[in-house]
Amino acid sequence: METVMRNIFLFLSKNKALTNMAKEHGLKFGAKRFVAGTTIEEAAKEIQALNKNGLTATIDFLGEFVHSEEEAQASTDESIHAIETLAKLGLDSELSVKMTSLGLDISRELVMKNMRLILDAGQEYGIKVTIDMEDYERCEATLEIYKELRKNYDNVGTVLQSYLYRTLGDLQDLNAYEPYLRLVKGAYKESEEVAFAEKADVDENYRHLIKVNLLYGNYTAIATHDDAMIDYVKQLEQDHHLEKDQFEFQMLYGIRSETQKQLAKEGYRVRVYVPYGNDWYGYNMRRLAERPANVLFVLKGIVKK
Ligand code: FDA
Repeated sequence: METVMRNIFLFLSKNKALTNMAKEHGLKFGAKRFVAGTTIEEAAKEIQALNKNGLTATIDFLGEFVHSEEEAQASTDESIHAIETLAKLGLDSELSVKMTSLGLDISRELVMKNMRLILDAGQEYGIKVTIDMEDYERCEATLEIYKELRKNYDNVGTVLQSYLYRTLGDLQDLNAYEPYLRLVKGAYKESEEVAFAEKADVDENYRHLIKVNLLYGNYTAIATHDDAMIDYVKQLEQDHHLEKDQFEFQMLYGIRSETQKQLAKEGYRVRVYVPYGNDWYGYNMRRLAERPANVLFVLKGIVKK
């Protein structure tokens, strides 16, 4: 049943008509559960509250299906505005960005130009920028972009997904770049030709990737809500005498907030991924796919409207 629900939500996440409809409605239908606001000012207030609780953040201006240069430009401008706002308010936050929102589906030149503008702004204010990983179709291009940018920028990082067969090879390849890496299980619908179908295999690969990257000595963001994975990292920390400043835990805004605070109290670095903007539909559908129980929150949101 869980698999059926997951597939339905992932299918819905790609619906352009619903994406456009959602944009027009603002943060309705329970969207507030996972999205920090429609403007950077609203999101900044949430980050301020997180910072007060000892948590850091990475902010993401939501955007899907960007097919014009103007939209890609607008996304770029907003990301730069977000960086400037974070710096002005003295908030402890990085930035996350999707290559499709900057024009990946239009041209490589466009996305490179936009990323350089964002990374320049990040460099000016000492803010790191992580390139989110999207679906398999865009994985190779995203990694190429990362590698190209990494030659000139210290403040760029990216993401690898443990559900893909190719990822261990990518992790080994990226080691030469001393990468700032976020490791996740993966949030998109992929075929068995490219990705593990069984959760147990995804989890086993996740553990393996975490261990390999930490033992390489690379900074590792372990982005999961899964207690079993968190415990695994704590065990690795003990077994291999890892320093707490070599890794951090990351979780999504609105998910397991108490666990986030608890980990921070235990002395771990914890970063919360804070999305904002009107384009919340696809993001929220992926969250529902991960945990259909969240549908209840969304239903409550609809009833309240
Ligand atoms: P998983 O879904 O395997 O669930 C395992 C257990 O975790 C559950 O049994 C439950 O105990 C707990 N759990 C999970 N979700 C919960 C919830 N909502 N509430 C309470 N408990 C919950 N993906 C991607 O493809 N590209 C990317 O760039 C990113 N970026 C990213 C950043 C950050 C900061 C995070 C946390 C995640 C991502 N992801 C992502 C999403 C990621 O790939 C994955 O889909 C989700 O994190 C869900 O997998 P988990 O490892 O959290 O738990």
